[in-house]
This record gives sequence, structure tokens and C-alpha cells, in this order.
Amino acid sequence: MSDAIKIPRVPPPMAMLAELTHRCPLACPYCSNPTELTGADEELSTAEWISVFRQAAALGVLHVHLSGGEPAARGDLVELTRAAATLGLYTNLITSGLGLTEARVNRLADAGLEHVQLSIQGVSPESADRIGGYGGGYNRKIAVAGWVANAGMPLTINAVCHRLNMDEIEAMIELAIGLKARRIEVATVQFHGWAERNKAALLPTREQAEQATRTVAEARERYRGTLVIDYVPADYHSKYPKACMGGWGRIGMNVTPSGRVLPCHAAETIPSLSFETVRESSLAEIWYESGAFNAYRGEDWMPELCRNCERKAVDFGGCRCQAMALVGDASATDPVCIRSPLRDDLTLEANAFSVASQADFIYRGRASKT
Ligand code: SF4
Ligand code: FES
Repeated sequence: MSDAIKIPRVPPPMAMLAELTHRCPLACPYCSNPTELTGADEELSTAEWISVFRQAAALGVLHVHLSGGEPAARGDLVELTRAAATLGLYTNLITSGLGLTEARVNRLADAGLEHVQLSIQGVSPESADRIGGYGGGYNRKIAVAGWVANAGMPLTINAVCHRLNMDEIEAMIELAIGLKARRIEVATVQFHGWAERNKAALLPTREQAEQATRTVAEARERYRGTLVIDYVPADYHSKYPKACMGGWGRIGMNVTPSGRVLPCHAAETIPSLSFETVRESSLAEIWYESGAFNAYRGEDWMPELCRNCERKAVDFGGCRCQAMALVGDASATDPVCIRSPLRDDLTLEANAFSVASQADFIYRGRASKT
């Protein structure tokens, strides 16, 4: 048999999160960016990003999520959006809204932007701006939501939930309806990076987590046909872990502002892995052949507990970065799993944090070289 055609042993990626920049006016204490932020002088150029989009489209990527930091901090956002859309990629802008004007929203729509995800931190200027660390941010977001609706683009509201706003979920859902959103993502904060540093302030109590699940279930009934509600429950209070990233290296990839290609946004917290950049390798080589992407694909890496478990095809053994953060071993069963021998320790920790109080946040730092 000829070996001219090399059939990859994994399917191509469907989605790419393009972290265009780490620059951001907000300073949310649960930011998913790494604690070591990339400066503006290290960011990929316009031409380099367009090359990444071209490679992604050729590789089979369908969706590109233009994210950050705040992607509007890039002066070439409209140009990048147009390039991705012209290549046939479905474009989604994930934004805080800061840095957008009505004219810029209209230019993005003209460039082919298909969807906007707008973050909210709370349901009042006081609570939202305290968490975002930016006065006036809430009112700006409300204005941006109106411009997006007027431009005819579908809007999703991203609501990251934690102990300080978990009791506002119903009000957030109502706000999303008022803003003419078609979808809201109610996602409980994940404790990596900045959020890990703020766990004592942000970890919800078990009562809050249970109430949140009830609130979402009731709202889904009430707003059926009006608003889609996606929900990521608090995994410290769940029985089983989530299928983080839909499984490592199965569905998507993240490209950082300086072009490192990661299997997930927190993958750099796993010190045994090294990551290639688009400046030295092609996206295809990285996706199919890099050590980092192959490290936790399939089942061979799994501990015996997961390998013999019927749920391994459902959650893929949980989150590798969470196992790293909580156990110091990225190849351990996610300790959120009720079958993990370490689950009791996690419950003890969650209970301890539930009564802890951290008066002030450690806000996300801004990139040092902007
Ligand atoms: Fe998932 Fe592993 Fe727990 Fe089974 S043992 S439910 S595969 S984390
Ligand atoms: Fe990295 Fe879950 S956040 S695998």
C-alpha cells in the first residue's frame, strides 16, 4: 500500500479561539488569561493572524472566536474579521464591549462578523464595575448591546458566576432578554490562573450552587423559545467533572497573542508540556503531531479508574488543568469526580472556602508592555 496519503488518526479541529491580545481595560479577578500576560510588542502581526486563519480554514476549522484580553484593543480588528469571514470561517467576537463604538460595530457587521458574545459582570453599575475593576464599564456594555442588535447581529450574553453574583442569576437572565440577546451562557468560574488566586472570594457555597441549578431550570422553562440558556454548574459541588474542551485535542485549539498553540486556555499551567508557535510550525503539524496535543488524547494516558469507567466517553476523565491545579498531576482523575479517592479532600476544601472571606480581589494585572 502506498504511503503517499497520510491519514491523520484524529479528526480535524472544528473551532479556534484566537486570543488576539491580552490587553484589556477590565481587570476581572477570574480572567482566563494566564498570570504572565503577553505584551503588545510580542503579539502576532496582522499578516501573521491572517496566515493563521488561512491555515485554520485549510485544516477544517469552521468557527473562529475572536477573543482576548479585549480584541477591540487591536486596531486591525475589522481587517482581521474581514479576512476570516472571506476565508469562509464563521466569526464570533468575544468582547467586554470596551473599545467598541457604534461606527466600529457597524464596520464589523459590514466586514462579515456573524455573532457577538458580550460579557456582563453583574446587573448594576455598582456590582458589575466593582468586579470588572473599571468605572463606567457597565453602562458602556448596555450601549454596545443596543448597537449590536441594531446592526442585526445575534447576541449572546456571557455571565461568569461566582459567590458574589451567584444570587443575581435570575436578574442576569432578565437583563439578557431586555438586551434582545438570543442566548446567555451562565458559567460558574473555573479556578485556574487569576481565579485560583481569588478562590476565597469567588468559590460559591453549596447552597448557592444548588439554587443556581434550580433557577436555571425554571428559567429554561419560562423562556423556552425566547432565550437559549447554556449553563456550566459549579464543578466543586458536582458529582462528575465536565468534558472540559470537549476532550483534550478533540475539537478545538487556542492560539495565544504571540502565536503559541494550546489545547486549552489554561494548558500552560501544566509544566511538563511545551507548546509550539505558528512562527515555527504549521497549525496542521501542531494539531496532528505536537507532543502537547497528543499528551491526553484517547485513553492510553488515563489512570486505571477512568480507563475502566463507563463515563470515559462522556467526560474524557475531566479537566487536565484542574487535576494539575488540585493534585499536581495533570494525568490524574479530575478530583471533582465522585469516584476519585481525592474527592473528599476537595469537598473539605470547598467547605473551608465557603466560610472563608477575602475582602479584596487580586485584580488581573494589565499587560506590562502595552
Ligand atoms: Fe469520568 Fe474518570 Fe470519574 Fe469515570 S472515573 S466519571 S471517566 S473522571
Ligand atoms: Fe485545560 Fe480543562 S482547562 S483541560
